[in-house]
Amino acid sequence: MTPPRTGRSRERVLTMRGIGKRFGAVKALTDVDFWVNEGEVVALVGDNGAGKSTLVKVLAGVHPPDAGTIEFDGEPVHIDSPADAQRLGIETIFQDLALCDNLDVVANLWLGRELRDGATLDEVDMEQRTWTLLRELSAKIPSVRVPVASLSGGQRQTVAIARSLIGEPRVVILDEPTAALGVAQTAEVLNLIERLRERGHGVILISHNMADVLAVADRVVVLRLGRNNGVYNVADVTSETLIAAITGAVDHSGARWTRPAPTPEPTPVPAPEPAAGSARADDSDLGDDDDGDTGGTVIRMPRTRPRRLPREDGRR
Ligand SMILES: Nc1ncnc2c1ncn2[C@@H]1O[C@H](COP(=O)(O)OP(=O)(O)O)[C@@H](O)[C@H]1O
Ligand SMILES: [Mg+2]
Repeated sequence: MTPPRTGRSRERVLTMRGIGKRFGAVKALTDVDFWVNEGEVVALVGDNGAGKSTLVKVLAGVHPPDAGTIEFDGEPVHIDSPADAQRLGIETIFQDLALCDNLDVVANLWLGRELRDGATLDEVDMEQRTWTLLRELSAKIPSVRVPVASLSGGQRQTVAIARSLIGEPRVVILDEPTAALGVAQTAEVLNLIERLRERGHGVILISHNMADVLAVADRVVVLRLGRNNGVYNVADVTSETLIAAITGAVDHSGARWTRPAPTPEPTPVPAPEPAAGSARADDSDLGDDDDGDTGGTVIRMPRTRPRRLPREDGRR
């Protein structure tokens, strides 16, 4: 059984149902369901071309969907532009990071949202707030007055993440944040993702790296050929199982996906009865339905790997 988690009764922030997206003859997404709660890290995994980037671009307002619905805080929304996404509180950190290399850390964080003191920029205030945010993230940045070009890959990722937090978004999306990083820098970024969870953001992490996914995510959503192919609680899954779902060695696309329920009650609700023929395993391992992940088909696998040590604060 999955251990109880703190921060339960986390509220649903975002629910996507039946999302479809075509590019000409290419069906990039077909009938995809996806959801994320406050203070939850959801990994989005799948092979190249599975539709991961397209799904997050739907959320980022880059590609409005052709089919399906999106709810934010329980309200139906249309995300037709990046400005719509930002207004809702959805921030995306794309792989290119989009930093201004010649500007320093403070300038990058506040670009376009500069704090002013009358007619002049309030550099002191911006610098202080930058330090406060970086401290909150336990970020290792030696100076905030150096051009970001001089920073390491992990530090640049940190700056991009910190910048995304200026507007206190509800959902932060990271596209392959560790792809270009070495071991130590990857650990730093994973640490940062944990801080995001602690701050209560819903985090969507696209990653190819199963070790990263298993280390930091709460839940994993597998896409294959533009369709859902499994949702797993990380505590119950192995990288072999995930890889089987990613490659199609295991096919859950025909499973009767329970549509994510409308925004769940703030109090935990019991999981729905498993539908006949659904991909759900037997009920013996389902004792953890109080973690806010209610309302969707989550495939739980028998535990085959040691549980991670509990963290000091009681969270995983
Ligand atoms: N802008 C686009 N125009 C045409 N086809 C696209 C576009 N973006 C993605 N696709 C296609 O949609 C499918 C899903 O791509 P993508 O979302 O990038 O997958 P992933 O990020 O999982 O690798 C692929 O077949 C890809 O070629
Ligand atoms: Mg992609």
